[in-house]
Amino acid sequence: MIDLRSDTVTKPTPGMLAAMVAAEVGDEQYLEDPTVNELQRRMAALLGQEAALFVPTATMANEIALRTQTTPGSLLLAEELTHVLLYEAGGPAIHAGLVMRGVPAARGRVTPSQIAAEADLGPGGIVVLENTHRGSGGRVWPVDEFRASVDAARDRGAKVHLDGARLFNASVAAGLAPSEWARHADSVTICFSKGLGCPLGAVVAGSHDFVERAWTSKYLFGGAMRQAGVVAAAALYALDEHVERLADDHRRARRLAEGVGIDPGDVDTNFVPIDDPGDGIERLREQGVLVSGLRHGVLRAITHLGITDADVDQAIGSISRAFGAPYVRA
Ligand SMILES: Cc1ncc(COP(=O)(O)O)c(C=O)c1O
Repeated sequence: MIDLRSDTVTKPTPGMLAAMVAAEVGDEQYLEDPTVNELQRRMAALLGQEAALFVPTATMANEIALRTQTTPGSLLLAEELTHVLLYEAGGPAIHAGLVMRGVPAARGRVTPSQIAAEADLGPGGIVVLENTHRGSGGRVWPVDEFRASVDAARDRGAKVHLDGARLFNASVAAGLAPSEWARHADSVTICFSKGLGCPLGAVVAGSHDFVERAWTSKYLFGGAMRQAGVVAAAALYALDEHVERLADDHRRARRLAEGVGIDPGDVDTNFVPIDDPGDGIERLREQGVLVSGLRHGVLRAITHLGITDADVDQAIGSISRAFGAPYVRA
């Protein structure tokens, strides 16, 4: 089976496992885990923020940020397909008492005028921007558009959280440092268990004051750990070994798109959107390819650390057989 469901299916490589075994560790809650401390320091610098906090998942990172930055009863505004609205089990309402509002926006980019239209946003409310934007197929925000939306949120007195679970994909695709987006937000999530191939781990970054206050929610959510350096070592290894290679995933995604007749202009990073005839997942499984749903009527094939050029060639043949050769996007 060629598994193109998600970039989360990757397993730690031998080099990553060796780094985990060799990790120097201590009690994270006493701030005595040198590997966690090093990862937090490096991530804060990479994101252009003052400080960062290591947590088990990107969902927890997002929920910590929302709870730390907002006032209960306030508004959370985001594009309607963002992860915080759809896949965090109502967490923003449950943990932070936020009223969640999703708006449609091309390529996931909530516009300054959509933000300006929300008179009830601030103070106390928050705008969540996602980069890359998952629901639109891993699309990258142009920095100037991102900044304009951040400015519009500030004008409304609201905070801005960047869900950058796949920010390294955006960075590699655009040829820009992650901080080009991240430094403008009040808080930022970044995840290590997606394209970077770690078994788990994420950070949430922001000001010193934000991170100090974020510890309360880290405890509340059960995300305060002990010898977490074993996992942080995987993330440090990934920063050195698995960031630049994301360009290979992007190249393979474009190659896959071209091979099945999808406009490569629809592929910014490692997501290939495939129109779903209804039973597309089953048809592809019969041909030895696993994909998953992206949004209503659209499937996603995602390239990652475990996918080779040969896998892509095989997948092109399988998709063409499953949907009739050549596959043509409706
Ligand atoms: C944009 C985005 N944010 C957050 C998450 C949550 O990540 P995790 O599974 O580590 O909680 C995901 C996971 O797919 C995601 O795509």
